[in-house]
Amino acid sequence: MDTTEKRKVILSGMQPTGGLHIGHLTGALRNWVELQDEYECYYTIVDLHAITVRQEPAKLRRWTLDLAATFLAVGIDPERSHIFVQSHVPEHTQLAWVLNCFTGMGECSRMTQFKDKSQKFPENVNVGLFAYPVLMAADILLYQADLVPVGADQKQHLELTRNLAQRFNHLYSETFKVPEPYIPKIGAKIMNLQDPTKKMSKSDENQSGVLFLVDDDAQTINKIKRAVTDSGNEILFREDKPGISNLITLYHIATGKTIQQIEADFAGKGYGEFKKAVAESVVEFLRPFKERYKEIRANEDYLRNVLIQGAEQARQVASRTLQKVYKKVGFVQL
Ligand code: TRP
Repeated sequence: MDTTEKRKVILSGMQPTGGLHIGHLTGALRNWVELQDEYECYYTIVDLHAITVRQEPAKLRRWTLDLAATFLAVGIDPERSHIFVQSHVPEHTQLAWVLNCFTGMGECSRMTQFKDKSQKFPENVNVGLFAYPVLMAADILLYQADLVPVGADQKQHLELTRNLAQRFNHLYSETFKVPEPYIPKIGAKIMNLQDPTKKMSKSDENQSGVLFLVDDDAQTINKIKRAVTDSGNEILFREDKPGISNLITLYHIATGKTIQQIEADFAGKGYGEFKKAVAESVVEFLRPFKERYKEIRANEDYLRNVLIQGAEQARQVASRTLQKVYKKVGFVQL
């Protein structure tokens, strides 16, 4: 590829609010790794977003470094992509303030995630939670991102980002690139092992149903063996068998075998035998990742250096955009 050609910019963010699980590895993060080949990627750990709900400081600190180590362990390459922590780049909050002044109260109160989270944490419906999508818009617009890989739950926030960019561009002059959503190839959805009708989620109360990337082998095996199954005894991928279907999905991911092949292989065999096979395959699948993660997480100097370098690179781009914005709205430049 011609290196003078400007690559399109991707930005995405992830909250450091809990351990990552196997669904991250096979979903979002796998896409992030692939995107590096074609795009200039900014991957940020959004700690400012995390504090819109209460966090324990020690945990937040640990999870932030855990997440950085995870990015590296799955194959995000700090020589090609920019890995940084949101709070290390003050331009995010600075732009967010300006954008707040161009966002209607109604626009934020319509956001489904705000409504959901206010219901979930009624004792802490704070202004930050309300303005959360505006901060997300700042994350994206600072880097003039062309594309933003997001899950379905974030599409509404991206729509708001586009509206804010267009609004500002019309009121002043062309300032922000209007980003497009990047809808990744749909990977297999992994469900909670204890409640296979719910997606596996890092903040799930039911941790015994979540396969965390940092669980040791015995924990992984135990969780799979204790997974809720369905009535009957056949290994079939069917809507009325959400538990077994979820285990088939896991086995498919871990071994690369097709669903049909798995059903055929386990025809006439019982749940117990199948679970044992799933557990072993998942342990093998996770092994290389876990080894890299352990090594990287243990080297905190290296981790911090990656984040320092990432923040410096991010600031160069972010400060340029912010200066433009400050000038346009009428702030005195010294
Ligand atoms: N809100 C996103 C989530 O919870 C995380 C996020 C913050 C993000 N800023 C972003 C995602 C910018 C994409 C782009 O998943």
